[in-house]
Amino acid sequence: MKTIVEIITENKRTNMDIIDAAGKIIREGGLAAFPTETVYGLGADALNPEASRKIYEAKGRPSDNPLIIHIADMEALEKIVLHVPTKAEKLAEHFWPGPLTMIFAKSGRVPLETTGGLQTVAVRMPNHPVALALIRAAGGYIAAPSANTSGRPSPTLAEHVAEDMDGRIPLILDGGAVGIGIESTIVDLSGGIPMVLRPGAITIDMLRDVIGEVRIDPGIEVNPSAHPRAPGMKYKHYAPRAELILVNGAREKVLEKINDLAHQAAESGKTAGVIGTDESCGHYRYGIVKSIGTRSDADTIAQHLYKILREFDQQDVDVIYSESFSAPGIGQAIMNRLLKAAGQKMIEV
Ligand code: TXA
Ligand code: MG
Repeated sequence: MKTIVEIITENKRTNMDIIDAAGKIIREGGLAAFPTETVYGLGADALNPEASRKIYEAKGRPSDNPLIIHIADMEALEKIVLHVPTKAEKLAEHFWPGPLTMIFAKSGRVPLETTGGLQTVAVRMPNHPVALALIRAAGGYIAAPSANTSGRPSPTLAEHVAEDMDGRIPLILDGGAVGIGIESTIVDLSGGIPMVLRPGAITIDMLRDVIGEVRIDPGIEVNPSAHPRAPGMKYKHYAPRAELILVNGAREKVLEKINDLAHQAAESGKTAGVIGTDESCGHYRYGIVKSIGTRSDADTIAQHLYKILREFDQQDVDVIYSESFSAPGIGQAIMNRLLKAAGQKMIEV
């Protein structure tokens, strides 16, 4: 299959002819990749079981790992869930469109192929003009996982999608770099106390401010032995090909340790990658050193995380050493993704 990449935004305007063509592909049961504010998604008609199956095939994704349904308005929500809890209504008012996915009991209209066999469904209204226009053109319901092959870092540029999906899907809509860079926060509202299954740009504190008590799935905290409840969180994920090791501790000690490790790697004939920040990069003396962003604005770190992991893959490094990032705000989501990419390997200094 030939994959066409179309520039979808010019002078901040969405090309509606291309949106219509992409919408047609999806309505007819095909796949199209598109930008959202978090990461690029790989879209198909969420209510068509055959179309959902194509997503799993293109990604090489295990079929028990459910998909998120993307909608463009609240009316669409009522048709795919059994009921909308008041807390979900409140969260939607505050955070939709935006980087928040909510889990509900599903209605009969949603095929089990889309939910990986579950009776619950994950739903999100993305905050991106291209995504919203495409959802409308496609009939209202787009199932979309991140548009990477299973296990690789999520795509934050159309080029990343092409790297993984070239020849597997007919169309990639290129809307440039995404804004946030890591996937949406997932909160389960399908029963009991709301529980965060995946941290993201909407933090637990932001959720608590709106609906009160919110728990965090023990499986996503640093303890790797607990079993996460979002099926996708149990798989090795977001991972570069090279081994990734995090180093955590006081700033000076981290710098020293990473310098030592990168030096040792060089001595033994390996190429090391080093992930530092604008503040620290000048202090690293060995290996290929990259800044992930500035510690004065953690959003910049989220934006560049997956891009940097992919760049190290292209440069064929053998091992990557990374600084770690602390938990406030989006920092929790950054650490969650880095730890998963590292297979939980972290050295304390
Ligand atoms: O930001 C995002 O959410 C992006 C963009 C494209 O919208 N999408 C995304 O989808 O990250 P994906 O498929 O890569 O991750 C979806 C996660 C998986 O970990 C999956 O297991 C979980 O959501 N999930 C989906 N439905 C679920 C359900 N019914 N119950 C529990 N977890 C669910
Ligand atoms: Mg994903």
